[in-house]
Amino acid sequence: MAERSDSLTVTDNRTGKTFELPIKDGAVTGMEFRQMKTSEDDFGLMVYDPAFKNTAACRSEITYIDGEKGVLEHRGYPIEQLAEESSFLEVAQLLINGELPSKEEHAAFTQEVTTHTFVHENMKKFIEGFRYDANPMSMLISSVAALSSFYPEAGDVSDPASRRAQMIRLLAKVPTLAAFAYRHTQGLPYVYPRNDLSYPANFLSMVFNINEPDYKPHPVLERAFDVLFILHADHEQNCSTTAMRGVGSSHADPYTALSAAASALYGPLHGGANRMVLYMLERIGTKDNIPNFVEKVKKKEELLMGFGHRVYRNYDPRARIIKKLAHQVFEITGVNPLLEIAVELERIALEDEYFVERKLYPNVDFYSGLIYQAMKFPIDFYPVLFAIGRTAGWLAQWREMLEDKEQKIARPRQLYVGNSTRDYVPMDKR
Ligand code: CMC
Repeated sequence: MAERSDSLTVTDNRTGKTFELPIKDGAVTGMEFRQMKTSEDDFGLMVYDPAFKNTAACRSEITYIDGEKGVLEHRGYPIEQLAEESSFLEVAQLLINGELPSKEEHAAFTQEVTTHTFVHENMKKFIEGFRYDANPMSMLISSVAALSSFYPEAGDVSDPASRRAQMIRLLAKVPTLAAFAYRHTQGLPYVYPRNDLSYPANFLSMVFNINEPDYKPHPVLERAFDVLFILHADHEQNCSTTAMRGVGSSHADPYTALSAAASALYGPLHGGANRMVLYMLERIGTKDNIPNFVEKVKKKEELLMGFGHRVYRNYDPRARIIKKLAHQVFEITGVNPLLEIAVELERIALEDEYFVERKLYPNVDFYSGLIYQAMKFPIDFYPVLFAIGRTAGWLAQWREMLEDKEQKIARPRQLYVGNSTRDYVPMDKR
């Protein structure tokens, strides 16, 4: 028997030539195929993979997912342990720097983030320019991009000190901009950040405080938000992270790149799904209507929002934690009446052949909206809450991309299938 080697032997049947491609980390590199040509002036073979279903665009040490088993780990730490024992700012440090911080490192980092939460007063005027009913995600996307104009030095992405400063600023200021967007839509005065509160408590204060100098959120809700931020912190090469890396690869500043990432997150197939779940549950209305709705999903007339995932072919571990968290939150806020419909919808879907066959399970967005609604956040605000947590992951991925010697400006190839060369026809001759 031939000796096993970490390589792939390919025969190009157009020419009869055989090539041996090295396999590293479970992959062959796409560029290896370019040597396979039918003639000297042939461009070489390409790899076609719309939607990147089987293409690794980077090596990464940040997040590991085993989609078949429903495993999610950050820098090797299981999400269940981080959600149970860590805080969002600690997870942010872990994601960005690679290791859990010491007590001193964590205190210093928390202090830095806490003292960068204010935004330039002109940002308030910028947000005031939006209509009262503007979608808060549009406001967040635009205001994060606008921040870039306040920090021109951020354009020097080759300077590690500047990179670090912008990462602290973004972690600190995204919640402030998010809260200002909320207050604007409610016609309420903006609440400035408070340095005596934790990261999630400060955010809840900027959102909900009405004239209470000593406002403090309920500790269960404060912890719930910290956990929700942790659960949304990173999820490797998803659509928005791909946008962050793609835009960042042109060496645009991180505010601009993060605004692009947030734009990608906004879509209903990605972070916008959490709001679509709530609209769906409201539309279903009663448990009796569920079988009818499920039939429509099976006929492809509807999508079951909050179900399915490109990577998970098993229960999303984040959904399991959020479902448990929801019960803790409901003890304080009262039960969201839509919970009953969600639980029944999940039960029916998980037993139905259509979903079983396709390995469709609840994802992170299925239960999170029920918590947000019980806490009285408007539905359109939910993707903004997702974006606050994901900011940590976007920044960690951006840093890793810039420091990775193998990375260059992102620039996919295409298979041109349009017209071949033809002569221009004047308008009166067409
Ligand atoms: N409801 C009904 N059918 C579905 C769903 C769903 N939610 N998701 C996938 N399918 C079907 C799909 O129609 C296809 O069926 P068929 O084989 O008959 O053509 C099969 O399952 C495979 O799905 P796919 O569309 O090829 O899978 P994908 O990897 O391209 O899409 C997804 C992944 C998340 C976009 C998709 O599952 C979806 O649209 N889900 C609903 C939106 C949602 O909840 N998004 C949040 C994702 S998790 C958090 C995040 O990323 O923000």
